[in-house]
Formats: sequence, C-alpha cells, structure tokens
Amino acid sequence: MPRQQITHRKIAEHVARLAELYPPISLDSVDRTILRPDLVAAQFGNVIDYLARVELEVDRNVLELLILLPDVDDTNKTFYSDVWQPQEIQHGLILDRLQQDLGRPAADPHLDMSFKIKILGALASLKPIQEIAKLLYFLTGASTERQAVLAYNQINTGLRAMGETAISETIITPIKQQEPGHFAFYQMSATAMIHDKVLKPWQLFLARVLREKSFNLVGTNNLRQYKADMGGVALDLGLNADLEGYAREIGRVESRLLWAHRQGMDFPPYILKALRESIELYQERIERGLASR
Ligand SMILES: [Fe+2]
Ligand SMILES: [Fe+2]
Repeated sequence: MPRQQITHRKIAEHVARLAELYPPISLDSVDRTILRPDLVAAQFGNVIDYLARVELEVDRNVLELLILLPDVDDTNKTFYSDVWQPQEIQHGLILDRLQQDLGRPAADPHLDMSFKIKILGALASLKPIQEIAKLLYFLTGASTERQAVLAYNQINTGLRAMGETAISETIITPIKQQEPGHFAFYQMSATAMIHDKVLKPWQLFLARVLREKSFNLVGTNNLRQYKADMGGVALDLGLNADLEGYAREIGRVESRLLWAHRQGMDFPPYILKALRESIELYQERIERGLASR
C-alpha cells in the first residue's frame, strides 16, 4: 500500500495544530513534590541532567537552523518559532529546576556553534547544498525527537513505579506529550522531500555519505565528554538490553528514506556504532574512577 501523499498543506496544518493544542508548559504548572529525592537522583539523576542540558540547547539549534537553511520557508519558520523553540526551552527550564530540586548542579548548556556547521552554512547558500542540508536536518530532527520520546517514556515508567506521581504527572507526562508532534513534523518533512524527488541522485548519494559520517546521538554534539554522558544515560535507561532494537527504532525514518535500496539492512550500521561508542566511553570513565554505577 502506498503511503498517503504528504503535501505541504498537510505539514502546515500539522504545525498549526501543534501550536494550538500544546502551549509551552509553564513553570507554575509544576507540582514540585518529590517523595524521595535521593532515590530519584540515584536512578534518574544522570538522565535528567542530560535531558535538561539538551533541551536548553534549543537556542543554539535554532541558530544552526538559520545558518543551514537561510531560505527557510514559512512552515518551517512557524514550526521553530511558534512551536518547537518555545516548547523545548520550557522543557529545559523545568528539568533544570527539577535537577536542582534533586540537589544537583544547574545545567550547563553548550551554546557554541561548531566550526563544521559554519562551514556547511557558508556552502548552504548554494541551492543544491541547501537541499541536502535540509534533508539531513529533517532526518536528524526525526531521530533525536524519537530518542526524546523513548527516554521520557522510560523515565515515566520508572517514576510511576517509585510512586513519584507529582514529577510524573506534572513534568514528564506533559513534556512527553509534546515530543511526538515534533517527531511527526520532521518525519513528514523528510518524507515529502523524498516523495517529491527534490534531490537528484548525486545529492542523495552525498546525503547518505554525510549522514554516515556525521551521525550523532541526541545531544552529544560530536564531543567525547557528551558521548560518554550519553553512554551513562543509555545504561541508566536499560537500552543495552536490546541495543539493536533501539537502533532500529531511532533509525526507522532514515532506513526507509535513505537506505531503502539496501535490501536486508535492518537499521543503518552507523547508529549502532554510535551507541556502542558512547557506552564504551562511559565504561572507560568508570574504569578511570571518574564515574560509578
Ligand atoms: Fe523537548
Ligand atoms: Fe522535541
């Protein structure tokens, strides 16, 4: 069965609906009751720290987007300015306050744009390059938002089991309701680009090469320190129980859109490689006595 055609109108309607249904979550709506801060910190402290930082990096993400896509259209503009940025920054502020309520230091978001982005930005004034950058931007968005959804699901299950209903109901549940809409936006946008054949074969080829070379797990910013943090998060969330299954989940959109010609490729191998690398870096940190489990 062919998938339903995704038109630009449909994407624009999706964005308008998200803006209407999900206003940014206010700090005042949160019930700050924590029954056992020590237990919550022991089990999810690292994960909450990580997510708080990544959510607060949204402002850098917006700058990168403007550099990579200087000719951004109205739908994309409405998405990042009316939906995505206002929602994500509140996620960051709320999680940052939660981690401090748990007795942990405030988040320290990484707000410097990488040199690579600046270079790519300089090239993005060329239309064919910008088209490639746009597809990669959507694929990155789809994969990172999916990672966020899975992480929040996992934390929520754990917090409920611990009886921490205030955090679960007034922080994690409302945040987690907003992430699937972001995922859907990126997925629809990437799918439409492929179905409309926006990219010529040489552009698609380059997109594959670049994706393979530049794939990063959410929030690692291609930096060793954050990759190791991510390894700790992966272990705390129990992802190592089925790393391949997780790679399949977060790589589903790009498997379908970029690698459909590779029969039998369950998920792009670079995703599993990145997961393994993160976990190894975290284990190295434990061996050097800089972290414990
Ligand atoms: Fe978020
Ligand atoms: Fe999101």
